[in-house]
Amino acid sequence: MKTDIVVFGATGNLMYKKLLPAFASLVKKGHLNTDSRIVCVGRRPLSTEQYLELARSEVKVNVDWRLLSPFIQYFSMDLNQRKGYEMLAKNLKQNRAKKRIFYLAIAPELFGDVAQELNASNLVVKGNSLHKVGFEKPFGEDLASAKAINAMLWQYFEEKQIFRVDHYLGKEMIQNIMVMRFANRLFEQGWHHQAIEKVTIIAKESEGVMNRGGYYDSVGALKDMVQSHLLQMAALIAMEPPTSFDVEGIRDQKVEVIKKLRFDEKVILFGQYDGYKKEKNIDPKSITDTFVCLKATFDTTRWTGVPFYFITGKKLNTKVTEIIIDFKKGHHQDALYPDQALLSNRLIINVTPDEGVEFRMNIKRPGLSNKIRPVDMNRCYDCDLGGNSPEAYERIIVDLLEGNSTLFARWDEIESAWKLIDDVQKYRQIPYIYHSTDELKSTISLMDKEAVSYL
Ligand code: BG6
Repeated sequence: MKTDIVVFGATGNLMYKKLLPAFASLVKKGHLNTDSRIVCVGRRPLSTEQYLELARSEVKVNVDWRLLSPFIQYFSMDLNQRKGYEMLAKNLKQNRAKKRIFYLAIAPELFGDVAQELNASNLVVKGNSLHKVGFEKPFGEDLASAKAINAMLWQYFEEKQIFRVDHYLGKEMIQNIMVMRFANRLFEQGWHHQAIEKVTIIAKESEGVMNRGGYYDSVGALKDMVQSHLLQMAALIAMEPPTSFDVEGIRDQKVEVIKKLRFDEKVILFGQYDGYKKEKNIDPKSITDTFVCLKATFDTTRWTGVPFYFITGKKLNTKVTEIIIDFKKGHHQDALYPDQALLSNRLIINVTPDEGVEFRMNIKRPGLSNKIRPVDMNRCYDCDLGGNSPEAYERIIVDLLEGNSTLFARWDEIESAWKLIDDVQKYRQIPYIYHSTDELKSTISLMDKEAVSYL
């Protein structure tokens, strides 16, 4: 169906880094109707040609501009002025696309007002299932602000028109977590405290804040990454099997388990990389966290006593996101193999940049000796697709177009995540200034040695 996709925040970092490449790939794969448009809304007074020129210089990955450009139209407006919305409504009316998608890649404090204007100008008609609005994270800055935003959204739209984006849910390996758990008897049977020693959810980045200082300094690692991506991963790992695999069945279980998460106040470290305060658009006295390490447990029968470590940060030694499940030693392992250096089973879900799974098991060394050695069995997931598995944002956009809300967060998921984060905020310290990942490792291991196994 002919569709107008309207992106607010078209000259922002997310548009250049993720959304335009995702649109380009969707166009190439034929997922966008040829008569659809991508209306790029920004405040700067630019023509479409000028915008495309700017975008070409800002987008750093390979994009087929010849294919993408005909879909793009730039529209300049001030989000604080009603007139802009009226002009936009006129513009969309002329195009006569029945389906309208709005994607708000703007600061969350603007969500409520923009929602009001979209409604007032009939750009989005409450209850019209062909009109949908996507909200980029973070959804608020704490529980109170998130509640206020959500109340506004419910005033102007119906829940089925609201899509709260968490792009990690669009990643292949995150969608794979449930398959790993529930389509493999081996894991399904051993997915509990009797078999699992600890779980580590880690998202390391080597880059700093780059040109996102203005946004990042008001947020920090805890709110930027843990509140959304890390908690979503933890929920999928820890939730009980859903009674059905429909959207609400899965979300119900995720919410239930997030409510049971308790952080351990004795193992919390906030860090800030050395040099952060000198970055562009950062307060020279900033105490924003660019790193955080937390230990938590789920207060459920399944997870009694199993530590879950949450670690994320910028300017670390590498860029990698992984979920690591360390299993306990076998009951008879030490007695039967007293002199062998056996390791326990370990499952690693490689989320990014490589996608795949690794499983460590002990096997006999080949040959005449009876020695045993641990081996890691690797499954490179994106090798099947020639190293070209779809970007998370492609999936997010397609689901938004189709109105499939499985990979978007429901309000109560966001609400329970903010409750937890507000709780952790009570233990916020002045961040520890780190110069290297190794330095962080030794600092954290003084609190808890197990926390740093994968840092
Ligand atoms: C975003 C955060 O949501 O996720 C960024 O705002 C972070 O700070 C990014 O860099 C990481 O995403 P990915 O897909 O590159 O792991």
